[in-house]
Amino acid sequence: MNVVEELPDDCTTLDLTDPRTFQRYDRNEMWRRLRAERPVFWHPPGSGRPGFWVLTRHADIMEVYRDNRRFTSERGNVLTTLLAGGDSAAGKMLAVTDGARHKRLRNVMLRVFSPRFLESVEQRVREMARRLLGGAVEQGGCDFARDVAEKIPMGTICYLLGIPESDQDLLLKLTKSALSSDHENASESSAVWARNEILLYFLDLLDGVRKNPREGIISGLANGREDEGKLSDEEIVFNCYSLIIGGDETSRMSMIGAIPALAEHPAQWALLRSGEVGVDTAAEEVLRWTTPAMHFGRTAVEEVTIGSHTVRPGEIVTLWNSSANRDERVFADPDRFLLARTPNRHLTFGYGPHFCIGAYLGRAEVAAVLDALRSRVVDLAVTSEPRRVHSNFLDGISSLPVSFTAG
Ligand code: HEM
Repeated sequence: MNVVEELPDDCTTLDLTDPRTFQRYDRNEMWRRLRAERPVFWHPPGSGRPGFWVLTRHADIMEVYRDNRRFTSERGNVLTTLLAGGDSAAGKMLAVTDGARHKRLRNVMLRVFSPRFLESVEQRVREMARRLLGGAVEQGGCDFARDVAEKIPMGTICYLLGIPESDQDLLLKLTKSALSSDHENASESSAVWARNEILLYFLDLLDGVRKNPREGIISGLANGREDEGKLSDEEIVFNCYSLIIGGDETSRMSMIGAIPALAEHPAQWALLRSGEVGVDTAAEEVLRWTTPAMHFGRTAVEEVTIGSHTVRPGEIVTLWNSSANRDERVFADPDRFLLARTPNRHLTFGYGPHFCIGAYLGRAEVAAVLDALRSRVVDLAVTSEPRRVHSNFLDGISSLPVSFTAG
């Protein structure tokens, strides 16, 4: 899809900070070569930004993910913030906080993500997927990204947080410009503006739920008990933001990516439809195959040896999930889309102390779409060239015209 150029002989010369690199080349071949030839390498500095380590093998990546003593997330956890020298939410937002503060924040967040509450959210996700897909099938097709996938994660997070339905479109627009970009020429300043708008929105909402408590996480956090580690307003706002940023586009990219994967692998689609492969197992393979968050990163706080390389304190280490998930040392036939694959030790949700707190929901959302597809659709096809997102972090499709034949 959209592959235009041949890879250079030495893939370490490619610029992994440039979103165009991921559109120009066959990324899976690039990662395969790097895993084989240069599994750990130093990406040189360039135009005012520092250099960083690149890790491509599953085992090395897991090792760093699990070690939040020698590697910190507090100086950023994605290339954009790592290269800029830090994240303004460090020490306040779960994903960029470590140590005792991270444990405290994570416990408070986990409490509001109670299993009973999540079950009700999952039920809504299934209804939403069936309703949206039903509408698309009746029309014989749609832009799956815009008409189905766009609505599910944001609808789910809004319900989770207690955000009124009428505000969902606004938040969707802001999230899109805050994190990824549909267009190559979108500026960093509009992303910063969008992030600030989201934070301001949550401050207003917080004020509202203090006056009129209602269902949802923001109310739970706002009205938490002192003795249970009540969060400050700033912490609440940053962590609500992190749910929206963490949970919208990632899940969206996985459910969109399921469609071309199924269309290109009719035998796998048949297995899903017949029920020979369960939706939960199939969802895991879709998550591995699509790997929406291509990388995360850390900064070393002491000297660490990785393979034959010495990483020094203060150096940035990037962990490429998109490579780990195709590592032939872990996955048999990694370049085959096999819905029945078990075990499936993908790193799509990371690993260790920062393991995705929304993994249950991400899985439920992908499974709900697969379930709706298999019960409503006999045949599916991608009808014109999909448009890919422009990012060095997020991988996926932002526009996907499809046709559906009803079952
Ligand atoms: C953490 C991926 C869905 C919220 C993470 C991490 C990954 C990830 C790789 C680890 C980051 C790190 O180690 O630095 C994904 C993918 C998803 C998804 C691929 C969907 C397919 C969600 C959802 C939510 C969410 C639905 C919220 C409702 C978070 C939060 C963290 C996180 C708050 C930080 C956890 C911590 O640092 O303790 N996610 N995520 N994610 N994710 Fe997700």
